[in-house]
Amino acid sequence: MNWKEWRKRDYYYKKAKKEGFFSRAVYKLAEMNNKYKILRENIIVLDIGTSPGSWSQYILNKYKNVKVIGVDIVEPKIRDERYIFIKGDITSEETRKQIMKYKYDVILSDACPKLTGVKDVDDTRIYELLLSILDIIKLSLKFGGNCIVKALNFSNLQEIFKEYERMFSFCKLFKPSASIKRSREIYIIGRKRIR
Ligand SMILES: C[S@@+](CC[C@H](N)C(=O)[O-])C[C@H]1O[C@@H](n2cnc3c(N)ncnc32)[C@H](O)[C@@H]1O
Repeated sequence: MNWKEWRKRDYYYKKAKKEGFFSRAVYKLAEMNNKYKILRENIIVLDIGTSPGSWSQYILNKYKNVKVIGVDIVEPKIRDERYIFIKGDITSEETRKQIMKYKYDVILSDACPKLTGVKDVDDTRIYELLLSILDIIKLSLKFGGNCIVKALNFSNLQEIFKEYERMFSFCKLFKPSASIKRSREIYIIGRKRIR
């Protein structure tokens, strides 16, 4: 079965289409938010790797008084006055400068680098992206703030995870039900930044 055929049969893909979400990824965020209480009213959220936009869509649908800053190389489908889009690569200086204009209550990242299938190359790409995200969190997440960061299961995951454990009062690695079982995808949950 090719990817398009698989997608047509996929429960979460069909559910997202029916409920008007741009991507099946929405159900990963919904599950993690329901379980770990990451989001709430009256907050400012950074959504890294925002496109096509289902995570931001979920936040804007569920909470009235929120502001979402989305960042991606690709344009999102979202149009909402509470949503600001920054177009760019988060590893570039220019994009980081724009991101740093705000301080965030919650930082989310569903970004994933382009993978080649060559383990060493992919591990380096994942590691570099995760270091960039960690740096953004250190510089712009408010104390007391929460995060969810996609981290593919790779050789330096424990090293990165230890950094999160130092920064948050609660930390967990979590694989949501909508995450494809055979994929290496896993999320780092961080609650209540303490340092
Ligand atoms: C799985 S998609 C995110 C789906 C999104 N959470 C949603 O619910 O619609 C991953 C996104 O990360 C973006 N991305 C990957 N690397 C990036 C980088 N270095 N800077 C900015 N965006 C990046 C990709 O362009 C892609 O749109």
